[in-house]
Amino acid sequence: MSIQLNNQALWCEFGLIGGDWVSNGSQGFYHVVNPSDGKPIAELPRMGKTEAEGAIHAATKALPEWQAFTAKERALILRRWYEAILEHADDLAKIMTYEQGKPLHEAKAEILYAASFVEWYAEEGKRVHGEILQTSRLDQRHLVLKQPVGVGAGITPWNFPSAMLTRKVAPALAAGCTFILKPAEDTPMSALALARLAIHAGLPRGVLSVLTGSREDAIAIGPILSKSPLVRKLSFTGSAAVGKKLLEQSASTVKKVSLELGGCAPLIVFNDADIKVAVAGTMASKFRNAGQTCVCANRILVQKNIYNRFLEAIESAVSELKVGDGFEEGVTIGPLINKKGLEKVDEHVRDAERKGATLIKGGKPASHIGEQFYEPTILHNVEPSMLVMSEETFGPVLPIMSFDTEEEAIAIANDTPAGLAGYFFTQDAGRLFRVGEALEYGIVVANSGIFSTETIPFGGVKEAGLGREGARQGIEEWCETKFFCVGGL
Ligand code: SIN
Repeated sequence: MSIQLNNQALWCEFGLIGGDWVSNGSQGFYHVVNPSDGKPIAELPRMGKTEAEGAIHAATKALPEWQAFTAKERALILRRWYEAILEHADDLAKIMTYEQGKPLHEAKAEILYAASFVEWYAEEGKRVHGEILQTSRLDQRHLVLKQPVGVGAGITPWNFPSAMLTRKVAPALAAGCTFILKPAEDTPMSALALARLAIHAGLPRGVLSVLTGSREDAIAIGPILSKSPLVRKLSFTGSAAVGKKLLEQSASTVKKVSLELGGCAPLIVFNDADIKVAVAGTMASKFRNAGQTCVCANRILVQKNIYNRFLEAIESAVSELKVGDGFEEGVTIGPLINKKGLEKVDEHVRDAERKGATLIKGGKPASHIGEQFYEPTILHNVEPSMLVMSEETFGPVLPIMSFDTEEEAIAIANDTPAGLAGYFFTQDAGRLFRVGEALEYGIVVANSGIFSTETIPFGGVKEAGLGREGARQGIEEWCETKFFCVGGL
């Protein structure tokens, strides 16, 4: 069954290999389901070794032609892709809500966010500059060339099925790389619709391939991409466990690797915070995409003097949330992506309760709405040893604990290997700089809960990942630096 779109051609029940839409999979077929009601919405080919090798071959073959395009010629294709995404934004948002579950207004916002990476890298591709160095010998000239890495591969997550795709694919294409994409098994329809628009915008055959498949197929495809000597760069967004495996596999070919492996973001509210700003920031950070965001606030630390006021204000804000199907008017919290996701959220809540936390709101599946919905939940009196405070929950759960001093808050906040994003709220200028500099995160946000745009370098420190996406740094990741010495002058 498919959804009604203005352009029905965007509903693609095929994979894409070397410019051909492929409806059969060497491993059979699997169903994509709507997380809102668990019903199948599409049947897609299950691809494996044969298709992955076919895509690598096609990307290798297409590489010389794509590299021979000038940066401006590539930019014109990306620009057309960007315009097509905007033109079809409503359809793309519907597809996303249908397969991912997020509220339609959030899906629309993500499509614009996704488009912004294509626009940005269409421009940025024209600004990949080398250098001419001062020479140390008069008979030589020393140049630094920036060249595309070669064939690239990307494995994208289900939580932002369109934006994480364009954040990888657009800089790679702009730099002159060809690309093989394996979108998450839960949300391939958004990826295929974007690929359809990219082909329509004039991307030559083989420059972009999309491998479809179930979770088991991803386990087979991952090592083929990461171990192939023809694939020169792998970019992955997803779990730390899978990321570490891909990094290990990529070592065999000393491949360039970018990883975005999630976080366990602290959000600190100091006594001197503007409470309205802190509550709005917490709500925006925590409940975007039902809390299924790598950068969402996972652990809320509130200083003693402001604790009760914060708790009261956040409880009232959480009461305004509406759980339901993403297509329903006014819904702010959609379903969780799958049963495993829901079970993890519930286990975190049960663990906190067992260890002494107090539940003040929610705390159970919203089964009256559907099997994969969870009530927006507030826990307080939590402690660092609880799962909600030490692991990424990926659900609509707000665990709140109190602290005394700035030093204590920083120590608790930094006590994690997942250094992706950290937030804090204060109106004290000295503290703003002290805490901003002390937090061990790739992204630190003061007095706001939302920061994502195409113009910032996104990425983590410690075990949260390698490399940066977005901004001017994002295209560097797809370039090699070559020293070129011209002698005999
Ligand atoms: C993520 O959670 O991985 C991405 C969120 C964003 O780009 O804002």
